[in-house]
Amino acid sequence: MQFNRRNFIRSASMLAALSLKEMEAMAAAQQINSNGNSIDENDETYWHNVRQMFPLTKDWAYLNNGTMGPSPYPVIEAVKNGMMEGDLHGNYGGWEATAAKLAKFVGANDNEIALTHNVTDGINIACWGVPLKRGDEVILTTHEHVGNAFPWLNRRKLDGIVIKTYTPAATADETLHRIKKLINHKTRVIATPHIPCTQGQIIPVKEICAMARERGIYSIIDGAHGPGMLMLDLHDIGCDTYASCCHKWMLGPKGTGFLYVRKDFQDTLQTYFVGGGSDNAKWNMAMNPPKMGGYNDSAHRYYGGTQSLGLYKGVDAAIDFIETIGLQNIHNRIKSLGKYTQDRMLELGDKVELITPTEERSRCAVNGFRVKGVDFNKFFAMCVEQKVRIRSVAENGLNSSRVSTHIYNNKAEIDKLIEVIKKV
Ligand SMILES: Cc1ncc(COP(=O)(O)O)c(C=O)c1O
Repeated sequence: MQFNRRNFIRSASMLAALSLKEMEAMAAAQQINSNGNSIDENDETYWHNVRQMFPLTKDWAYLNNGTMGPSPYPVIEAVKNGMMEGDLHGNYGGWEATAAKLAKFVGANDNEIALTHNVTDGINIACWGVPLKRGDEVILTTHEHVGNAFPWLNRRKLDGIVIKTYTPAATADETLHRIKKLINHKTRVIATPHIPCTQGQIIPVKEICAMARERGIYSIIDGAHGPGMLMLDLHDIGCDTYASCCHKWMLGPKGTGFLYVRKDFQDTLQTYFVGGGSDNAKWNMAMNPPKMGGYNDSAHRYYGGTQSLGLYKGVDAAIDFIETIGLQNIHNRIKSLGKYTQDRMLELGDKVELITPTEERSRCAVNGFRVKGVDFNKFFAMCVEQKVRIRSVAENGLNSSRVSTHIYNNKAEIDKLIEVIKKV
């Protein structure tokens, strides 16, 4: 749905019912269409207008997009309208159009996208579907989120696979080198995150997938942070599967996600969770014996049953919102805020240990760090006191902090974090 004045007002019974914030958003909506032009990443007036499109509180510096991407008004509006669309007339379905729109957004074909509810769903579908036997090896990182760790650990417990790990390095080349060293004749899967939740560096997945393909190894990517942050082209990356969500960097509704499964990989990746939509409409329980038919000839085989039209209308609106600004403009802005964060931290010398690489190709919108002389939990509490929202990284014993910024942030909010560090 395009965000315009008429649509915006439609669900409010009277203009008077709009809050001041909503009225500011309506005014800003007229200013944010880039019309396909490039926007300077430092054009603070433009980015201020973008900020006005978010109901997100201004009382806090919200620097935790890596956990939850707050939606702008047009997305919230589209969810409401999408629910109304179904619930008013008793209509059913409609979410398939979103799968096609998502496919285009991430550089895939319509028949390669399965709708899911989050990243974890997609990873579980891929983890359980890939054919593995006892003793087969899977390569992961020492920086996993529980959503990409626990499914594989569970499969190890139940099926006896072996997990090998590498630690993401300061350069993409060294990361590739570390992975290569782990590969042997038993390696069946590289299940790396595109961008680990811990320190947000960009892992060279295109090279990893090429390396895997040459050796007959499956590439199963945790793409929680890719769409909306990067200029994503899954065909170009060449992975077998890519699991993501539509809320973090896409700014869509929570509880929406997708799994990309390369078309030629679909007959290898076994589906276990089937139902309405994942079949090929040839099953018949009245036959003797009952007939199964087969799977849908697309990634729809990996999900069945009813989806929320409202939520997926919200995903449509999130893609429209991104495209109104321009994904390249968004990428440039968030990469420049990420660089600003790094530069401000590096200015502090020994006080801060920046753990995200500064290498151009490896950095974007997320930075991990440790503040010397203070425990990461204590530092988190200090941030809360100053109304700065970051994330603590307790996973895998990393005991660090993470800052992740999106288009609704500005340099002043990053400065607020820097001030908290200076007070330690
Ligand atoms: C790298 C990574 N993988 C997986 C997940 C799990 O995502 P979800 O909660 O959508 O399943 C997250 C969530 O933050 C993440 O950062």
